[in-house]
Amino acid sequence: MALLLWLGLSLLAAVQASAVKNCHPGCHCEVESFGLFDSFSLTRVDCRELSPSTSMPVPIPLDTAHLDLSSNTMGPLSDTMLAGPGYTTLVSLDLSNNHITKVSPNALSKLRYLETLDLSHNSLQSLPLNCFSGLPLAEVDLSHNSFQEFDMDVFAAKVNGEPVSVDLSYNKLVSVFTTLHGRVLLVQSLNLSANQLQSVPSLAGLPLRYLNLDFNPITHIKEGAFPQLKDVVYLSISGLHELQQIEPNSFKGLQSLQVLDLSNNPKLKSLSPAVFSGLDSLQELNLSGSGVASLPTNILTDLPSIKSITLGQNTHCWRTQKQGQFHRQMGQVQHNEVLNCNVEGVVL
Ligand SMILES: *[C@@H]1O[C@H](CO)[C@@H](O)[C@H](O)[C@H]1NC(C)=O
Ligand SMILES: *[C@@H]1O[C@H](CO)[C@@H](O)[C@H](O)[C@H]1NC(C)=O
Repeated sequence: MALLLWLGLSLLAAVQASAVKNCHPGCHCEVESFGLFDSFSLTRVDCRELSPSTSMPVPIPLDTAHLDLSSNTMGPLSDTMLAGPGYTTLVSLDLSNNHITKVSPNALSKLRYLETLDLSHNSLQSLPLNCFSGLPLAEVDLSHNSFQEFDMDVFAAKVNGEPVSVDLSYNKLVSVFTTLHGRVLLVQSLNLSANQLQSVPSLAGLPLRYLNLDFNPITHIKEGAFPQLKDVVYLSISGLHELQQIEPNSFKGLQSLQVLDLSNNPKLKSLSPAVFSGLDSLQELNLSGSGVASLPTNILTDLPSIKSITLGQNTHCWRTQKQGQFHRQMGQVQHNEVLNCNVEGVVL
């Protein structure tokens, strides 16, 4: 019985990797099979650091799902470089470290099933409008580029000026969608860290869950900087060496935000209570290595869901029950909870 069970489970769980014929010299191709009798398989192709004379598009097996083309000094991305057989069905594509300065308007348009795109460590200052349109992108990494602004219209789709509508019937999609110009958007993770952004880009209406703006020369975060981003659960604004001020109500609209990383912002010296307004779901606040040494009193009222706050070099505070004192005043709910810190005498 146990043996049968083991056999069954190993048949189901076995991931078989085998070499592929027709693999371009210089690339490494692997088929991974899953499921009972290997009923499901996908091909992973690694073409990192090819010889400089390789011409694009690099031939890839027809059923390739994941393609790594990083570190190939591709330069400006033309309409034909990603238009070969096998590219249409890619699910993920890594184009990092390629000296990409420009993306031509239709360079990505054949990648109709692309969900994950890594364009990090290139030299992009902008992207053509609509260049991601029609792609079901969920995750885009644009970190370590030279964006001074970011226009979310790169995700918008228009054909002959008309918004494209997408039929989503008979799908198993479970995530929340919003629409921009009538098009269904899927992008959930956007990484804009280490660019040249001087202010928070307008991303209103994108169904983002993860947003990273680390290491940008942003000096101020303005009131209402994050409108209509109700799905964001994780926001990282860390390592901003020029950040001096976060205005009251800056984070209003981030009603689902659970983690806010404001660490390593040395010029940020204080935060008014109204900075936290609207952050009703926030559980974790990281201010370590920032200039903020103390927090507004009544922080538990301002941040009703907070569980942990990190401050200064090594001060870590957790929500705890106040010991021995139970105020039973009318109308003062949760008065017996405090934030207790690992530094003697510090209670928030
Ligand atoms: C975003 O980019 C930074 C810097 O490259 C990296 O540390 C981080 O892991 C990235 N996050 C995601 C989700 O890709
Ligand atoms: C806070 O941020 C610092 C610096 O980025 C990191 O080392 C630390 O692990 C973070 N703390 C928590 C509790 O996430």
